[in-house]
Amino acid sequence: MNRYIHEPVMVGEVIEALEIKKGGVYVDLTLGGAGHFKKIIEKLETGIVIGIDKDDKAIANALEEFGPFQKQSDHYIREKGSLTIIIYQGNYSNLKQLLIDLKIDKVNGILADLGLATDQYQSGLGLSYLEDSPLDMRMEQGLMVTAADLLNGLYFKELILLFKDLGDISFAKRLAKEVVEQRMMEPFKTTKQLVAIVQKIVPFRSRTGTNKHPEAKVFQALRIAVNREQYHLQQLLPQAYEALAPGGVLVVISFHSGEDRLVKQFFLALAQQKKCELLIKLAKPSRAEIEKNLRSHSAKLRAIRKI
Ligand SMILES: C[S@@+](CC[C@H](N)C(=O)[O-])C[C@H]1O[C@@H](n2cnc3c(N)ncnc32)[C@H](O)[C@@H]1O
Repeated sequence: MNRYIHEPVMVGEVIEALEIKKGGVYVDLTLGGAGHFKKIIEKLETGIVIGIDKDDKAIANALEEFGPFQKQSDHYIREKGSLTIIIYQGNYSNLKQLLIDLKIDKVNGILADLGLATDQYQSGLGLSYLEDSPLDMRMEQGLMVTAADLLNGLYFKELILLFKDLGDISFAKRLAKEVVEQRMMEPFKTTKQLVAIVQKIVPFRSRTGTNKHPEAKVFQALRIAVNREQYHLQQLLPQAYEALAPGGVLVVISFHSGEDRLVKQFFLALAQQKKCELLIKLAKPSRAEIEKNLRSHSAKLRAIRKI
């Protein structure tokens, strides 16, 4: 049983923006628990739908939920009447090559719902500050540098930049100083060591509002760095735009200001060159959705339509 507990965010907004046309080709770049993917399949009925994820568990979940599949070279395929479902395990920055391999020229809609699915925080990789495990955070094979390596190896100034740029952390300088002092006594190995210094800098009594869990931001910054998430997003965006047929739609949901900035700047530059229309400049979850699913509170959705 591989079922995910992840609650998809802004499902109505995503499906409306994608303007799913029967017989079309749609790509979900971030399958996760396949909540969005399932809705796309339901709307599409006939055509091709491709689901991508780098994570084993997300792939196992999709194979179980939408199968049975046949394995063909590096992807799984299921023909279900006039609907073809394709599942691919890999990085979404391989989109262009995957479409070439599948002999698909253009697609009508693409969704990227960035970040992590709820289940992935309990993976034993040290992605959650609530987990007591080694500080690894590598979510793909082939990555050499762990989160502990970064804490033990980066210069003071590099640590400040990492915490500021990838975690929006207001106490980045103090944290970097503590990290440097701590590692001189004992190198970082576990999540517990990192949690202890965050709790020393930001004691529970001084935590308010959106800053109740500063550990989450610190862990997020390290995860983004270890998995080179911004690099892959930068690689992906032009490939996704190129893959769209005229009139095709690209929807991106991000959960972090650095990611959202990349998406916004890319979309604005295309709009200025009259290559796309800004279909949704910025949408956020409703208050009702945030109350139901707290994780959605930082979601930012943007969408473009190719001209
Ligand atoms: C927020 S979840 C997606 C949730 C999904 N939309 C749903 O309805 O359940 C993000 C997913 O993207 C995947 N992911 C993140 N970066 C990726 C990348 N560079 N390539 C492929 N998958 C990636 C993660 O493994 C995770 O499963």
